[in-house]
Amino acid sequence: MGPLELLVVAFWVMLPAYVPNNAAVLAGGGAPIDGGRTWKGRRLLGDGKTWRGTIVGTLIGIGVAYLLNVFQPTAVSAFGVSVPTFPLAVMITLPLGAMLGDMAASFIKRRTGRNRGAPLPGVDQLDFAVVALVLTALVAFEWVLAVFTLPLLVVVFVVTPVLHVVTNVLAYLFGFKHEPW
Ligand code: CTP
Ligand code: MG
Repeated sequence: MGPLELLVVAFWVMLPAYVPNNAAVLAGGGAPIDGGRTWKGRRLLGDGKTWRGTIVGTLIGIGVAYLLNVFQPTAVSAFGVSVPTFPLAVMITLPLGAMLGDMAASFIKRRTGRNRGAPLPGVDQLDFAVVALVLTALVAFEWVLAVFTLPLLVVVFVVTPVLHVVTNVLAYLFGFKHEPW
């Protein structure tokens, strides 16, 4: 695989994990998952993690994986890029893992005294990708091994933070987000 194809495949396999966070930003609001509960005087997760955002985000991510599966033969034959299809379990674990990773980061932020919206550089940019991949590896280890070669993994971990920064700045500029991170 050349560098350009690596880039395309990295984006393709991670798209079901990328979209949920953005969908959650657009769909978010309503009841927080932690129900307002606190631990040691601080919110468990905070108002930024809602049921609606999480459920809509996960469902949209599943829809994205489904669409990519539909277009996979076209991508392979028309553009010659060897993108994989997503098994059913992976269609769920990529978006769900992404949402759980984002939630875990909020949990850590609250425990370390950071209020809703406070940045945690590094963690904010990679939490969703790491948990999406770990959860996927837990249920579809063979698939992960076959798809994620070392070069692809390297590209994913370089491209993901860049995309995260760019999309969040755009979401902020367009008024969808309160902070540009
Ligand atoms: N959102 C949501 N449910 C999620 C994730 C995000 O409803 N599981 C929505 C919320 O409206 C949230 C916005 O998307 O405010 C931006 O997401 P994010 O930056 O992850 O949350 P923050 O508000 O910054 O809160 P935190 O400090 O906990 O990350
Ligand atoms: Mg935030």
